[in-house]
Amino acid sequence: MSESSSMVRATGLSKGFGAGLTRVEVIQELDLEVATGEMVAVVGPSGVGKSTLLHLIGLLDRPELGRIVLDGVQTDDLEPDARAELRNCDIGFVFQHHHLLEELDALDNVALPVRIAGEKGRVARDRAAGLLDAVGLSDRASHFPDQLSGGEQQRVSVARALAMRPKLLLADEPTGNLDSANAERLFQLVTELHLKAGLTSIIVTHNEEMARRCDRIFRLARRADLSENVRKI
Ligand SMILES: Nc1ncnc2c1ncn2[C@@H]1O[C@H](COP(=O)(O)OP(=O)(O)OP(=O)(O)O)[C@@H](O)[C@H]1O
Ligand SMILES: [Mg+2]
Repeated sequence: MSESSSMVRATGLSKGFGAGLTRVEVIQELDLEVATGEMVAVVGPSGVGKSTLLHLIGLLDRPELGRIVLDGVQTDDLEPDARAELRNCDIGFVFQHHHLLEELDALDNVALPVRIAGEKGRVARDRAAGLLDAVGLSDRASHFPDQLSGGEQQRVSVARALAMRPKLLLADEPTGNLDSANAERLFQLVTELHLKAGLTSIIVTHNEEMARRCDRIFRLARRADLSENVRKI
């Protein structure tokens, strides 16, 4: 695969936490390449390093060893400001727990990243309204997070993740806290938006059935030498 067709090219990633006796090696010499437009599921047992991997790819944390190239940009050598800009503009993140701001209503939560990026309030609110419509929540725009169901909160998080029109969507167990009907609805929504917005998506999930519906499953095992990259047949 040529570099230009890869949205993510991570090579030789290693990351652990702590030092001395409390040191935990989490990711060791991991390679992951995700083609532009691909939807990849990341699966593996609890504690294996799925969130850690997503944080590295999302530039929320740095690997101790290895390289991460995002859409042809070598991220490891970038200055902090340039990394932050890449993270804010090109990457949308959906967390397992929605991380919405409780004091803002749904519309303002979705508009916030656009405002922070310096757009006028009107532009940010119009874009947020369009995204709330896309996730089926136009009628909940002025509701605060605690007035929304878990499924609705996650749909607002998806809308917020897409507010900056990112190239790459990273979702960390987005359906983990939802009942099966809401999980299915959210997964379908993510799949639909992935195609419609021409995204590249990496989705951590414990749900094998959903994982199989992605283009490819990337399995993380406890030891790096057991990690395998399984192409969907
Ligand atoms: N900031 C940190 N400091 C110390 N240890 C950490 C830190 N973040 C993660 N870890 C450890 O790294 C390992 C991997 O954590 P991670 O959250 O990536 O797992 P996970 O695969 O996402 O698990 P889950 O499925 O439960 O979400 C765990 O043993 C965890 O305790
Ligand atoms: Mg996790």
